[in-house]
Amino acid sequence: MDRVNSIKELRQQVTAWRVAGEQIAFVPTMGNLHAGHLVLVKQAQQRADRVVVSIFVNPMQFGAGEDFASYPSTIAQDVAQLERIKTDLLFTPSVQEVYPRGQKAQTVVTVPGISDTLCGASRPGHFAGVATVVCKLLNMVQPDLALFGSKDFQQLLVIRQMVEDLCIPVEIAGVPTVRDADGLARSSRNGYLTAAERSLAPTLYRTLCATSAAITGGNKDYIALELEAMQTLEVAGFKPDYYSIRNAADLLQPDKKGHRLVILAAAYLGRARLIDNRVVDKC
Ligand code: PAJ
Repeated sequence: MDRVNSIKELRQQVTAWRVAGEQIAFVPTMGNLHAGHLVLVKQAQQRADRVVVSIFVNPMQFGAGEDFASYPSTIAQDVAQLERIKTDLLFTPSVQEVYPRGQKAQTVVTVPGISDTLCGASRPGHFAGVATVVCKLLNMVQPDLALFGSKDFQQLLVIRQMVEDLCIPVEIAGVPTVRDADGLARSSRNGYLTAAERSLAPTLYRTLCATSAAITGGNKDYIALELEAMQTLEVAGFKPDYYSIRNAADLLQPDKKGHRLVILAAAYLGRARLIDNRVVDKC
């Protein structure tokens, strides 16, 4: 696996592949790679000739008081894992390479509507930071395909809307959430959990499954279901941020028109802010 830090070297490699007629897939990450990231890379390998992975902890998507400074960095292990699964190219730009004029002078991409609710409401500016860096990374790599996890359900929708609105010529693929055996979604932030918190953490997904089963069973009192789930989480020791039943396509409030639903949750457990979601199979 080659590793490059500059846009110039990245472009040289990608251009050579493109001239050879190869299809290029891209998996952007913030590193501290786990099984969830690796599934994205493996799916990318099945769908394209070459796979580029980026590791860049994007300061622009972290708010004041969030964990940018302490975000886990495990670059040596990340490189070893990517080499083991035969990734073609790793792009690890510096903050200076991505934001040469500084963040304040950077053109910002904001995706209205979908960015303002749920995680966007709790973390003002977060999705502008995500959209801006993903837009830049897509322009740097110019892949045919880019893959994102459904664990970050809202992020995936924000990126899909951005790509559509800005006519970026790339296919966006969503990949199902990878979980531990007890249901906890894999996340770099799980490392913040103490052993006691880790044993409580699967309650988040279990609660989402219970709400999903209630809806599938015909319960349409979404507000009562949300309140009940918030209580379950509080009793278990979480500090819930939101727990919300929405239309899966646009995250608007369910409109009883039979649209597919998704239940989204964010909750603090100790230091960790965990997010998860579950699409309701049938309702
Ligand atoms: P990061 O949290 O490192 O995640 C990188 C990609 O891995 C995202 O598409 C995320 O949804 C996916 N992912 C994380 N955990 C997953 C899991 N358990 N199962 C499946 N996929 C999972 O998300 C980001 O970084 C950043 O916001 C980024 C898009 C790179 C922009 O900075």
